[in-house]
Amino acid sequence: MNNFEFKNPTKIIFGKDTIQKLETEIPNDAKVLLLYGGGSIKKNGIYEQVKTALSNVEVIEFGGIPANPEYAVLLNALKVIKAENITYLLAVGGGSVIDGTKFLSAAALFEGDMPWDILSKKIRTEKGMPFGTVLTLPATGSEMNSGAVITRAETKEKLGMGGPGLFPEFSILDPQVISSIPQRQLANGLTDAFTHVLEQYITYPNGALLQDRFAESILQTIIEVAPKVLKDPTDYKVASDFMWSCTMALNGLIQKGVPTDWAIHAMGHELTALFGIDHARTLAVIAPSHYQYNFEDKKEKLAQYAARVWNITEGSTDDKAYAAIKKTVAFFHELGIDTKLSDCTKDYEGTAEEIAKRFTDRGWLGLGEHQSLSPDKVEKIVKMAY
Ligand code: NZQ
Ligand code: ZN
Repeated sequence: MNNFEFKNPTKIIFGKDTIQKLETEIPNDAKVLLLYGGGSIKKNGIYEQVKTALSNVEVIEFGGIPANPEYAVLLNALKVIKAENITYLLAVGGGSVIDGTKFLSAAALFEGDMPWDILSKKIRTEKGMPFGTVLTLPATGSEMNSGAVITRAETKEKLGMGGPGLFPEFSILDPQVISSIPQRQLANGLTDAFTHVLEQYITYPNGALLQDRFAESILQTIIEVAPKVLKDPTDYKVASDFMWSCTMALNGLIQKGVPTDWAIHAMGHELTALFGIDHARTLAVIAPSHYQYNFEDKKEKLAQYAARVWNITEGSTDDKAYAAIKKTVAFFHELGIDTKLSDCTKDYEGTAEEIAKRFTDRGWLGLGEHQSLSPDKVEKIVKMAY
């Protein structure tokens, strides 16, 4: 196992009817900006629960944060924060609202003139405005990590940011929120969380037995609950395992002491930036090609994944590793998720070259666990995904 440090300060409040606990988590003297998305919370009862819990605090609202949180919209929220002397942010939503809130937490205390610099110049946030979250969509893990991804439509960019100052102070996870999530978003959440684990697991063996088994147990749990969640999102037991698996997939724990990849996400973000494809769907497009292209480097872990997660125990390492890729593709298809770029857009010619050029321009010359995935290789992987 590699040396590591691990600190995750986010308090998780998990369970039925826990949204009311907001009342005790937010300081009484806070001036709160309540941030939300396109309005789903007003149809499923979450908004009322939040407002009731906050009845003793001063609250201003900012709705309309879109999926793939948009920089221009967030700048409007930043104006409200400054004009109203907001002291506390509350995100009520999925990854997009939470990520948007993290950007605002950083931007509110940022001393430069251009908040976009936080993203383009990779400025880490050591201290942000305090914020909490009420998670409405299990998927990203943003509720218990310190990263965010922000989109800028003007330049078709989607860039990451983060830093130790961007952990939520608390996150409320009530699995009952899952009952109103549309099938498409449930499938996205399952796919995103599944790929988060793969990014931290399908690398090369480094003898971290416990980390591998954490990863495998999350994958197994997602595979087990996936059809049940899609069939009946009101099943509380299943919803609980789904929600906690998504949080555990990306709260920092399983990546400690092991090499991590994240190249699938780097390529996927470009597909969202260029075509607006849902985040999770970009991952399902890239992952199979990525594993095929990097087969020699990754086949030991692919074979381990085949045996332990998919029960494929016959054959050589190569056989098992190939079978694991096929199983992964079949799993995505069972969720209703396509695995080719041509299934998501008809306008894909030139995409591989464009993404390779963007990585070169940004100086991203080596992605993946060996930092060896150069832009020319990225171009080949994206082409294989057409
Ligand atoms: O906007 P509203 O009306 O609320 O509707 C949302 C949105 O349309 C809807 N929804 C959420 N909860 C619901 C619900 N509908 C009914 N009932 C509910 N309870 O679902 C739609 C999608 O929401 P969104 O927040 O965009 O989805 P997700 O959680 O998948 O977040 C995706 C974003 O997170 C980023 C992605 O890149 C993308 O921008 N990620 C963030 C990460 C992180 N911070 O660690 C890691 C991930 O890899 C990912 O990159
Ligand atoms: Zn993701």
